[in-house]
Amino acid sequence: MIREIITYPNKLLKQKSHDVEDFNDELHVLLDDMYETMIAKNGIGLAAIQIGERFNVLIINLPNEDDKQVKEDVLEIINPKIIDKKGSTLYTEGCLSVPEYYEDVDRAEWIKVEYRDRDGKLISCEYDGLMAIAFQHECDHLNGELFIEKLSYLKRKKFEKDWKKKLKGKS
Ligand code: CO
Repeated sequence: MIREIITYPNKLLKQKSHDVEDFNDELHVLLDDMYETMIAKNGIGLAAIQIGERFNVLIINLPNEDDKQVKEDVLEIINPKIIDKKGSTLYTEGCLSVPEYYEDVDRAEWIKVEYRDRDGKLISCEYDGLMAIAFQHECDHLNGELFIEKLSYLKRKKFEKDWKKKLKGKS
């Protein structure tokens, strides 16, 4: 089922999520809903809190070598932990909770992570490139943080001004 995506400045986005303990049907429905919702909005990643569920659950589905986003490539990431990181890289990020806003964000270039899959199996992995960037972006959501919190003071100020204008225009 396609769910509503919560957008800034909804306070729920600042809430910390908690670990999943039961890898049951409820989790599987959540993962499936998240996938449908993300695809409907043309996203490449989504955290559960973005649809109002405070669980440490995220999905990432990057385009493949032919620039096609296929479901076989989706990563379902539960209770993630970034256990090591190296380097830095700048990438223009966006977020389904901050629609139509894009800005450069500095992140680690390489990460070593641990998480569980939908059946609770522990996975250890190393990522670089866009996967590492998306992983860090989504993990921030689980800690109640949005990418706009990484902007410089001036960029953030401009964003807030523009965002208020945009929200006014919509009401
Ligand atoms: Co996001």
